Amino acid sequence: MNTEYTPKKPQVSPLAEGLVSRTLPAALGADGKPDAASAAFARAVGYGFYEPWHSDEQLERVVPTFAEDGQELTGVYVDPGFASLEPWGETLEQLGFDAEHPVGTFADFDKTLNAGGAEPIEARLITDVTVSASFRRRGILKHMMTSRLAQAVEDGLPLAALTVSEGSIYGRFGFGAATREQGLQINATTAGDGFALRTPAAGTVLTVDPSKTAELLKETFARFHAGTRGSVERTPWYWKAGSGRWDPENITSWNRKVRTIVHVRDDGSIGGYAAFRFMGWDTEPHTMRVLDLIAVDASSRIELIRHLASMDIVQRLTLPRQEAGEDPLAAALVNPRARKVTDENDVLWLRILNPVTALQARAWGADGQFSLSITDSLGICAGTFVVSISDGAAQVSSTQGTTTPQHFSLDVETLGSLYLGDISVLTMREAGRITADDDADWGALSATFDLPTKPYCATHF
Ligand SMILES: CC(C)(COP(=O)(O)OP(=O)(O)OC[C@H]1O[C@@H](n2cnc3c(N)ncnc32)[C@H](O)[C@@H]1OP(=O)(O)O)[C@@H](O)C(=O)NCCC(=O)NCCS
Repeated sequence: MNTEYTPKKPQVSPLAEGLVSRTLPAALGADGKPDAASAAFARAVGYGFYEPWHSDEQLERVVPTFAEDGQELTGVYVDPGFASLEPWGETLEQLGFDAEHPVGTFADFDKTLNAGGAEPIEARLITDVTVSASFRRRGILKHMMTSRLAQAVEDGLPLAALTVSEGSIYGRFGFGAATREQGLQINATTAGDGFALRTPAAGTVLTVDPSKTAELLKETFARFHAGTRGSVERTPWYWKAGSGRWDPENITSWNRKVRTIVHVRDDGSIGGYAAFRFMGWDTEPHTMRVLDLIAVDASSRIELIRHLASMDIVQRLTLPRQEAGEDPLAAALVNPRARKVTDENDVLWLRILNPVTALQARAWGADGQFSLSITDSLGICAGTFVVSISDGAAQVSSTQGTTTPQHFSLDVETLGSLYLGDISVLTMREAGRITADDDADWGALSATFDLPTKPYCATHF
């Protein structure tokens, strides 16, 4: 058995002729303003997501947060010399964006993921993936993804993570959907299917000044992150938007619509906060929309929702990004129909790069031993691994052919979806995505691999 395991770097898919790729850190110039490459990158990202063209003032706010996170910005650029020989070259030169604007963008940086083990695990987060509509489907994404995954392997990262605009893009690169969230609608009236809780109120909910909350949001989130499997550390964007400093519609303005409440427990500690906004007098029924709600336990979450639902004039609450799975709020309601799930979406997608480090950092349902044969179309972590869990902690080693009596096979995308416990190995078996030798004990694998609660990622990036 080989306890020293090193994943393989994937082969980098080449760019088409006339395109060049450069990776630079997000940076500010000597005057404290974004450097030209970072500014052009940020503008191209906004444009790629069909957002308005960033103003200089907006860039002066957004680029420093990229730099604070240590983001590496990979841009793909059109070589002007090549373009000048093409029939479209003259038009591009006269009417196109300046050559410093990339036609492909891809940013990555590191944050921790709570995988349920003793310590959070380092993850390479990928964001700002766009390709100009005029240059799509000629392998730019494939190049950026393979070259940056190669860098992540070289840097020793155990996994990569992203959130997606479309579910069809990233499975081919070995990413599997790993957490989900639900949109909730709550009937805040007291009649019919209206809101009433079985439990008496606990602690106090206070209305606070949003502009004073940036540190509170950070500290509360840090406690939530430490206690929530599936949580990813947040970027500075959250503290600025959450405290009203940045209006998401225009980050150079304050968001004057944001309102904030905190739940103060009987011992004086803060158990959670909700940032929310009123949707306006013309919206019927009168609705409060929760922009962000982070609570360190179910009791504080229920108290925050109780407070919002009992505000005068408010007839409906909408909570877009709530934990999927069993909800204590539903069980606490006198009438469970006061709470409706309006939609469900995947959030975090994971790409395992190093199964040894990654599996050692996850939570386990029970002790046991099994082996996993992993296939990986990028070749990064294809191989067989023996996993032995004792006292809740796993020892994982790669092996050349020696397997345990409990031997299972799956691809790396499936492993990503199983990793945080969002889906059971038994469901994956029924979907035909994990197979086993004839004598394997699926019940034992499920007891070991599956987890009693769903993971929750409250971070979008
Ligand atoms: C999604 C996007 C980045 C793809 O970039 P691209 O350079 O056209 O992708 P590539 O040419 O490298 O395609 C690589 C593979 O993915 C496939 N693919 C690309 N975009 C896809 C999509 N939206 N749906 C399904 N498959 C897609 C390609 O067909 C190709 O498949 P192949 O390997 O079997 O040939 C680009 O279309 C885009 O900018 N979209 C709008 C912004 C966005 O949604 N970004 C993603 C944010 S998470």
